[in-house]
Amino acid sequence: MSNQTMNKAANIAQLKSMARSRIPGFVYDYLSSGCNDDLAVENNRKSLDQVYLQPYYLRPSGPVQLSVEILGRSYSAPFGVAPLGLSGLIWPKASEYQARAAKQANIPFILSTVASISIERAAECAEDCFWFQLYPPTDKNMLHDLMKRADVAGCKNLVVTIDVPSLGKRPRDIRSGLTVPPKLTLGSFFQVLTRPAWAMAMAWHGRPEFETIKPYLKTTGNMAELSDFIRKTLKDIVDLELLKQIRDQWPHQLIVKGISSREDAELALKVGTDAIIVSNHGGRQLDASIPPVELVAAIKNKIGEKIPCDG
Ligand SMILES: Cc1cc2nc3c(=O)[nH]c(=O)nc-3n(C[C@H](O)[C@H](O)[C@H](O)COP(=O)(O)O)c2cc1C
Repeated sequence: MSNQTMNKAANIAQLKSMARSRIPGFVYDYLSSGCNDDLAVENNRKSLDQVYLQPYYLRPSGPVQLSVEILGRSYSAPFGVAPLGLSGLIWPKASEYQARAAKQANIPFILSTVASISIERAAECAEDCFWFQLYPPTDKNMLHDLMKRADVAGCKNLVVTIDVPSLGKRPRDIRSGLTVPPKLTLGSFFQVLTRPAWAMAMAWHGRPEFETIKPYLKTTGNMAELSDFIRKTLKDIVDLELLKQIRDQWPHQLIVKGISSREDAELALKVGTDAIIVSNHGGRQLDASIPPVELVAAIKNKIGEKIPCDG
């Protein structure tokens, strides 16, 4: 975040309110909502609010430092930028800004398979902070090619997301027509009219595309065909067998994202995963899921110090 933005938005609540006033309601809903009745989002929030920090003011200590080593590389803070699909809908080039900011802050930037910039562009912007998140496609040639492109671009960390065996039901997206395929409603149209800066930026840069998967589309860019492609080809169900295949093909570090149980953590470990991300997809997939922050300790206990495990 730039200093200018930080001066205007001193905390997350202010930042959210700024975003709300700049982007149309249906885009804000896409960014902020969960699934079904939004219970998982609320429960994630409540659980995070119950995390307390224990200060030791009098204990002798050196200078304050947040830096941390993750998978053999040192980063300046113990967090990074999570993958965000359809990022170009929020603002043109949103992922480029995130990637450059992550590099500047020296924290990991994870590009989503369905973000609006390509693997190659993200690698240019994030340089050695670039990680790639993979939704494994059913087409094995495409799967192989995506991994090869990430490798050639210099990516050392491949993040495989396992918690989208099917897409969560997102009522606010359904109401606003942000579905596959999208249906622009009259309401969404009026929301666009009330956010001229967003509308102008979109008009200037053109409709956001799925740049990473664009080369595999055999369509003319027609929305219905694109939706069909995403539904049928893009996301395979990640089972142990597929994870093993990916492990065998990927020459660098493999991270599994979306772990929500001790059992899955152990299985991921068995197939040679280097690290796991305990996550419930921000509550966007399973409304009755357990908040990840409540699972981290138990999972860490189960798998010990064998691999890094973060929520
Ligand atoms: C708008 C939006 C789009 C997302 N797109 C993806 C995606 O393409 N791939 C993915 O693995 N996770 C995606 N996520 C989930 C986030 O990467 C992340 O898991 C979530 O925000 C919660 O953070 P946590 O995992 O640290 O709990 C998305 C989240 C949001 C809010």
